[in-house]
Amino acid sequence: MSELPALKTLHRHAPDYKPRVAVLLGSGWGAFTQHVQNAVRIPYATLDGFPKATVAGHAGDVVLGNIGNKAVAVLSGRKHGYETGDVDGMKTPLRVLRAMGCEVLLQTNAAGSLRADMPPHSLMAIADHINFPQRSPLVGVPGTERFVSMVNAYDAELRAQAIAIAAHRGVALAEGVYGWAFGPQFETPAEIRMMAQLGAHAVGMSTVPETILARHVGMRVLALSLITNMGAGLSHETLSHAHTLEQANAGSARACQTLLDIVENLQFSPNTPPNEAAP
Ligand code: HPA
Repeated sequence: MSELPALKTLHRHAPDYKPRVAVLLGSGWGAFTQHVQNAVRIPYATLDGFPKATVAGHAGDVVLGNIGNKAVAVLSGRKHGYETGDVDGMKTPLRVLRAMGCEVLLQTNAAGSLRADMPPHSLMAIADHINFPQRSPLVGVPGTERFVSMVNAYDAELRAQAIAIAAHRGVALAEGVYGWAFGPQFETPAEIRMMAQLGAHAVGMSTVPETILARHVGMRVLALSLITNMGAGLSHETLSHAHTLEQANAGSARACQTLLDIVENLQFSPNTPPNEAAP
């Protein structure tokens, strides 16, 4: 993929390095990069087409290295739709990591809960999503591959493994539907009631565009939400970005340890060819 200059830059930093798992870190998950062994850290600012980080709590580095015996590429920081109105801010980073060899995208985020049995600091594996804004990062992308199936967008087999790995450590990983809210304002209580009635179990301002982009290039997706609050109107807490970060930090150590266990123990086929990663 010679049209990706960032790929060349990354190869210069880590020649012959072939990560197989891409990990995209959201709010509260940044400490995960400390677990990467032999880490090479490359700032987004030096990589063509990578976003400029503008949100507090999002670092803006690619970290290449190992987690156990797996070669990983960690994206610490994502571009959100609410920053500019564009929802394809992570298109180049994901294409570059796919071109480097990543077959799996493991996404993380912070989210509000719509379920009483999923209080703050719970972890939820995303089973499906609702694209409430009906925005797509594939608008304007040519080719028939843009009509990407979103069935099993969150890989059922990887999710089952993640739940079993977490359970082995005594960590409950709920399963649920993630509702994408465009933001940056939080939802109204009426919107939260609507989302819950329509089948969402958690709400957040990210992840959905990146899942669409990853499916477009044939990566299998596993996504975890760290619950930082109850959705608007479901509790008496006042929602703010500072509150999200505070709660995310409080749940961060357990979340990062669970993510570490999952990355270390996740099994996927040795040589999955591009675009045949999912059924
Ligand atoms: N709404 C939207 N995004 C969020 C929330 C929320 O309640 N909590 C964390 N991210």
